[in-house]
Amino acid sequence: MATLPSLSSSINSVQLDSKRKEDGEEQTAKPSQEFDDLISTLPLDEGLVPMRLRQYQGVWIPEHFLRGIIAVRQRFTARPDDLLLLSYPKSGTTWLKALAFTIRTRTQHSLARHPLLSLNPHQCVESLDRLFFLGKLSSVEPQPSPRIFSSHAPYSLLSESIKGSGCRIIYVCRDPKDVFVSRWHFNAKLGSKTDKEPIPLARAFEMFCEGVCPFGLIWEHALGYWKESLGRPGKVLFLKYEELMEKPVANVKRMAEFIGCPFSPEEEKQGVVEELVRLCSFENLSNLEINATGVINAKAPTAPPTFASFFRKGKVGDWRNLLSPKMAQRLDEITQERLKGSGLTLGRTWLEAATLMDENPVHQV
Ligand code: A3P
Repeated sequence: MATLPSLSSSINSVQLDSKRKEDGEEQTAKPSQEFDDLISTLPLDEGLVPMRLRQYQGVWIPEHFLRGIIAVRQRFTARPDDLLLLSYPKSGTTWLKALAFTIRTRTQHSLARHPLLSLNPHQCVESLDRLFFLGKLSSVEPQPSPRIFSSHAPYSLLSESIKGSGCRIIYVCRDPKDVFVSRWHFNAKLGSKTDKEPIPLARAFEMFCEGVCPFGLIWEHALGYWKESLGRPGKVLFLKYEELMEKPVANVKRMAEFIGCPFSPEEEKQGVVEELVRLCSFENLSNLEINATGVINAKAPTAPPTFASFFRKGKVGDWRNLLSPKMAQRLDEITQERLKGSGLTLGRTWLEAATLMDENPVHQV
């Protein structure tokens, strides 16, 4: 297996430049201890092995991430031209990072010699919460505008600085059935780092339905950003994994317009949008050496062992291969109930998917 390559500073950003001492930093950086007194008083759940979840302001959050979330709330000063990529974990964060990063930096980096060819998307756009829990505030402040960061924080836990700065937010959501299945497989990879007994599927499913999983109830998470996107459409763009999959070109153009760097007619004529979509596609990224064999030496219990852990199938409807019809229907019912009256829908229901399969057995559900 290849280890994470050391990176040169040629990528033209403090963000990229700093990150890639990653191995060493993960080994030596001491996560901030200062919020530990508060965190140790919060409700704890250790059922989702190997994670320790703490309930903070009603939301279950991986313990060490919570240090970052609290630190960001207190210390991060957002800028109006920051771009924040938000998501519930396993909803397409990696893909969103690749797309947004490439759209925004396309004048700096030609697609043929792009940083994404040798870096994982999580190295190109760092998690704000992770930077803060690693105590790397000093690498955030000096970064030149426009900065891009990611976070899994629910809207309710974003800082006043972020909410009031006028910065742009892109949120990606996904069918809860596929999110649960993706989480299940991802957790198995995390579990390979410990010798603790893995959680049974039925228990993990119950915990997901109850929101006792990283970043709480998926429905509440999506609704927070959905409502904001309706109220402030120029500042919050709400995307769906399934729509990105179905119409990548149209959605990439939408993202570029939203970010404020639309594709020019010349770029469109030259096929730049299609090329960018191809660069960021599951097939392309997952086969690159960094993503196929790169090792992550982080000790955090939420960090997977390899970059390949972020690429599994990249399909819509893979829930069929794990969930029983009863489980799928249960999630559909919760989805309908929780989203009632909001105008938001998340994925095809079990019934719609079954009908589609009957009509066209090769169709992706
Ligand atoms: P599956 O486990 O269903 O395959 P996140 O990035 O939020 O952790 O989400 C991970 C999910 O996104 C995984 O889903 C992964 O395979 C999928 N994914 C990663 N990169 C992708 C890409 N470029 N295009 C489509 N899906 C991608």
